[in-house]
Amino acid sequence: MKPLNIGMLGLGVVGRGTWKVLNDNAEEIARRAGRNLQITSVAVRDEDKARQWLNNDVHVTTDGLSVVRDPNTDIVVELIGGEEEAFDWVMEAIAQGKHVVTANKAMLANHGNEIFAAAHKKGVMVAYEGAVAGGIPIIKAVREGLAANRIQWIAGIINGTTNYILSQMRAYGVTFDEALDQAQELGYAEADPTFDIEGVDAAHKLALLASMAFGIPVQFDKVHTEGISSLASEDIVHADRLGYCIKLLGITRRNGEGIELRVHPTLVPTDSLLSNVEGAMNAVLVEGDVVGPTLYYGQGAGDLPTASAVVADLVDVTRLHSASPDHRVPHLAFQPHALSDVPVLSMAQVESAYYLRLRVHDRPGVLSDISRLLADAGISIGSMFQQPYGDEQADIIFLTHQAVEGDVDTAISQIQALPFVLSEVIRLRVEALL
Ligand code: NDP
Ligand code: HSE
Repeated sequence: MKPLNIGMLGLGVVGRGTWKVLNDNAEEIARRAGRNLQITSVAVRDEDKARQWLNNDVHVTTDGLSVVRDPNTDIVVELIGGEEEAFDWVMEAIAQGKHVVTANKAMLANHGNEIFAAAHKKGVMVAYEGAVAGGIPIIKAVREGLAANRIQWIAGIINGTTNYILSQMRAYGVTFDEALDQAQELGYAEADPTFDIEGVDAAHKLALLASMAFGIPVQFDKVHTEGISSLASEDIVHADRLGYCIKLLGITRRNGEGIELRVHPTLVPTDSLLSNVEGAMNAVLVEGDVVGPTLYYGQGAGDLPTASAVVADLVDVTRLHSASPDHRVPHLAFQPHALSDVPVLSMAQVESAYYLRLRVHDRPGVLSDISRLLADAGISIGSMFQQPYGDEQADIIFLTHQAVEGDVDTAISQIQALPFVLSEVIRLRVEALL
């Protein structure tokens, strides 16, 4: 059978990984796919750089649209990153009736609903396993493996760069900036690493996961997003003392009539599964009503792990390319006409346990005043400790039991106004999970 021709947009970290895997494992891949897959053209910005990696049979150009429109291109693999140009080229590929494989979560989080609607109408596939959690086949798991379940929640470490930074800071005491430099050198970070450290990349991925888990449209704009750039190293130390470690988690959960959708630094118990996920590894917990909790673990970033996901998509597309579009797995797991409009909850409606830290004048009555305000807001204290700061001040750290975030907001603003409170009240969320 004639090989399928791949037109690739981008030959960076993931593009080169994909080129390598398709060559190194060509025979095994063809045995699975049923035919050979070959990269016939590549679009980049710097042609000379790209030619160092490719053989002479591959056409190299700076004109991405020519790759997309080439009648010999059967599948377009989009690996340039960014939003707008990638979006235009992917939409053009769909308009040309071509299947697309992409690892671009920024594009899908912002334009996924439009892209998937266009692909559905045209009867083509847009596959995106590499867009969430690198080499972990989490999309396949949620979309197909757990299809019998009403999914209750998903929580996970879904950004390799921030997990690498937090691990390096905690284990080796390296600075935030040093750890970020290392993550960039290793190819984990986004072209703009603020996407990683401010939680935006994790929010992109969470929006896609929530859509597949609950059958809702992709709603990146509704994800509450906090990163790790303002995380104080003293909170990492205090958390450790309390038996927790801090991870940047993406969490989405059914809660009453709505869906929680949030990314933030989170204290998880040091003996929990997630706390032992180190470096650029990712781990995603998915709780289904039928199966119970399930865990998916693996390399969440980097050239070969991501290429593993991209090539798996290429195999899927090859196998299904001649199937009737109605017989393919829906892009967002649920049939497009069956998506639901269940609301995304505001953070005030979210329920969690909390870590609170504040500096106070160390004098009689301070603790009882703070405890009373917490109690008045219906918040129960699980544990606390106090650490002297100089002769007359102290840092107080509380762990609360489960509470509603709106009540915690109320208590914090009242505590903040107390005359003996000398610092901003730092609030981090605490999740037990598994
Ligand atoms: P890189 O920055 O390493 O590579 C981007 C590639 O795209 C380069 O070859 C670049 O060309 C090319 N490119 C960019 N803009 C254009 C353009 N306008 N026209 C033609 N070529 C262009 O990115 P990554 O490989 O790291 O990431 C690619 C995608 O995969 C992103 O969407 C990213 O979010 C996603 N991803 C990345 C992971 C990772 O671990 N790195 C993991 C999972 C997903 P040139 O080299 O000539 O500049
Ligand atoms: N920058 C991303 C990360 C790449 O660090 O997880 C993988 O999506």
